[in-house]
Amino acid sequence: MRNHLAVLALFLAAAPALQAADAGADAMQRRGREILHQSGCHDCHTPGFAMNGGQAPESVWLTGDQLGWNGPWGTTYASNLRLRLNAMSRDEWRAYARIMKARPPMPYWALNSMSDTDLDAIWQVVKSLGKAGTPAPAALAPGVEPAGPAVRFPAPPPNSAKAG
Ligand code: HEC
Repeated sequence: MRNHLAVLALFLAAAPALQAADAGADAMQRRGREILHQSGCHDCHTPGFAMNGGQAPESVWLTGDQLGWNGPWGTTYASNLRLRLNAMSRDEWRAYARIMKARPPMPYWALNSMSDTDLDAIWQVVKSLGKAGTPAPAALAPGVEPAGPAVRFPAPPPNSAKAG
């Protein structure tokens, strides 16, 4: 009986700590999901998302897209982040996200400026979703005609780089 009481006492002592850890993990998941929606990551990296009023099943979240983005940089395809992030440790992801550059229309500057907490939250969500899908098509060099559907960017108006 004394042993049982001791075990019970230990359990009761540990429970708040466990609950706090759960609450922390839940808050991080919520934050990660919020960023993925509000920062537009799904718009490009989740197939069908933008055309469907911001809806897509979690099974396809961030699996990349076959839709090409064509312009002076060639043709790019939004990468499969489920495969990419699940191949990185949290620290590798932080270091990579902080300095990565990519061709248009990836807003890499938004990723570069995120806090460690926000980067961790994204990583946690992608970890919990797990690997899925296949790699997006490889990017094409400027002047190479994409075989599949592509969004075409016109040449920018003259002097647009100096605007403002
Ligand atoms: C307007 C479309 C668009 C949005 C919005 C967008 N991306 Fe991207 N992203 C792309 C494209 C296209 C590429 C591939 C660029 C290339 O090939 O150079 C890419 C590449 C990446 C890569 C590089 C993957 C690799 O294989 O190294 C990461 C990481 C990434 N995006 C994360 C994000 C995150 C996180 C968000 C939200 C904060 C986001 N992207 C928002 C279009 C987008």
